[in-house]
Amino acid sequence: MNYFQYNHNELYAEEVPVREIVSQVGTPVYIYSYKTLERHFKAYDSAFGKIDHLVCFAVKANSNLAILNLLGKLGAGADIVSGGELHRALKAGISPEKIVYAGVGKMRSEMEMALRAKILMFNVESWPELEFLNQVAGELGVKATVAWRVNPDIAADTHPYISTGLRREKFGLDIHQAISEYKKARRLKNIDIAGIHVHIGSQITQVSPFVDSLIKVIDLIRKLDAEGIGIRFVDIGGGLGITYRDEVPPSPQEFLQAISPVIEGLGVKIISEPGRVIVGNAGILVTQVLYVKRKDNKNFLIVDAGMNDLIRPSLYKAYHEILPVCKREERPRIVADVVGPICESGDFLARDRELPEFVAGELMSVMSAGAYGFAMSSNYNSRPRVAEVLVRGDQFSIIRERETYEDLIRGESIPAW
Ligand code: LLP
Repeated sequence: MNYFQYNHNELYAEEVPVREIVSQVGTPVYIYSYKTLERHFKAYDSAFGKIDHLVCFAVKANSNLAILNLLGKLGAGADIVSGGELHRALKAGISPEKIVYAGVGKMRSEMEMALRAKILMFNVESWPELEFLNQVAGELGVKATVAWRVNPDIAADTHPYISTGLRREKFGLDIHQAISEYKKARRLKNIDIAGIHVHIGSQITQVSPFVDSLIKVIDLIRKLDAEGIGIRFVDIGGGLGITYRDEVPPSPQEFLQAISPVIEGLGVKIISEPGRVIVGNAGILVTQVLYVKRKDNKNFLIVDAGMNDLIRPSLYKAYHEILPVCKREERPRIVADVVGPICESGDFLARDRELPEFVAGELMSVMSAGAYGFAMSSNYNSRPRVAEVLVRGDQFSIIRERETYEDLIRGESIPAW
């Protein structure tokens, strides 16, 4: 459920016509809905009911300060993967005791920054990383609270690039080696080994892989308990999918109903790291049709947004629904590729898509673009990154200015020689 709807054939973001935003901000532009974000976060958070929990929003999905700030105000913590994301989360007002830090390649400077900020927990992925964290914490005279990220060897039925729970992937500790690694970790002076972390992938639309991996985690907790190693935090990761096209993912309530019997009564705090399910359907990318081109019996709608603005179709063959911002009755339908201005054949937003016959100059909305949209955008082909707008009720604000050509070359210089 989101608040991008037609009213008299015109697409609105909450109570604001998309056309009005475009007339002030231009295209391409990402538009987010406050009410949708609020609704999604509350639905997810409240699904935990009485379970002691903390929802840490996965900053990588959408790292705009305004969005982090609004989620933080609703009680969210942050799941970060870099010093840059830590900087953003803190700037957005998220308290460090609600921040967890994952990723296989944390650097010294990032560890120091997170230790100084006193974040809640590091999710550690390998023994060399843990030893290094122990050393860095020792140098700062502090103790790092740590969860081992375990790899449960569970297949999640999703795109291979975003499936992480299989043994062959770079992520986590092989669950079969976990007991010995926990025992070793206990001997490190500057490490408080307090949790278990598991994240099996993204855009998962069934509950069974989550349940199966948590059953393995709970089994591990029991074994650790028998060894006298007490666990205080179980971080169940993110990964719950959304509807892009016709997927029917479990709702947060259904998700919790399925996993509650497994995680209840453990006497631990449950941490969860949703990204896409909070922000995916709370954002759209609006682009303008530049030219309509017909070639070899094929139609191309050439638009002003490219793979640098939204890379998901190119990278994962991801489907994003495409809607006209102004619907017109009775127009013929065509089959077309929607392509951007980038010099690569992989630069498309849709392929062989049946669409209403768009004309040049018309506005097009690329739906479900709130997660991993702007966050994965780049300056490829020296294209300034686009503006981001947040709508709340009948008002809207630019939450990120469109970049300028000067922004593009900031920091570059030509050597005197
Ligand atoms: N926690 C960890 C450790 C993760 O690696 C991720 C996502 C999340 C949480 C959040 O997952 P979510 O709830 O959003 O599924 N760029 C890809 C998705 C990459 C996901 C990477 N990790 C895409 O556009 O589909």
